[in-house]
Amino acid sequence: MRFTTLLSTALLSVGLTTTAFAAEKNGAQIAHSCTMCHGDNGISKMPGTPSLAGQPEIYLVSQLKQFRDGQRHHEQMNVIAKTLTNDDIEKVAAWFAEFEIELKKR
Ligand code: HEC
Repeated sequence: MRFTTLLSTALLSVGLTTTAFAAEKNGAQIAHSCTMCHGDNGISKMPGTPSLAGQPEIYLVSQLKQFRDGQRHHEQMNVIAKTLTNDDIEKVAAWFAEFEIELKKR
């Protein structure tokens, strides 16, 4: 029962994502598909996965294009970046770059 509920929730979110992707997407909507690895708001808690929040927009754009064009190699990111248009890359990079990171010494 529980599994069925989870499954239909998963199918529903896939459906919603597909619909969102078919329409014009804003940066937050595109970023939604990144947070499972890069963390909520782009603060990563996963080893081997960098935080994106607060990184310079120009750097994020260049890295995403390099993943997409195969100049930077990473199995998962190469596949993900291929789904992004130039417009998607600019929007999602701008969204993650908008976060301001405050540093404090422990
Ligand atoms: C399945 C997990 C996963 C998903 C989903 C994912 N990423 Fe990544 N991403 C990674 C990993 C792992 C790396 C580190 C790659 C490496 O070691 O070179 C990475 C690296 C990056 C980098 C390079 C960051 C740096 O500091 O050099 C950018 C930019 C990036 N991802 C953007 C995105 C965006 C935008 C999305 C969503 C559209 C996304 N990623 C979705 C796992 C993921």
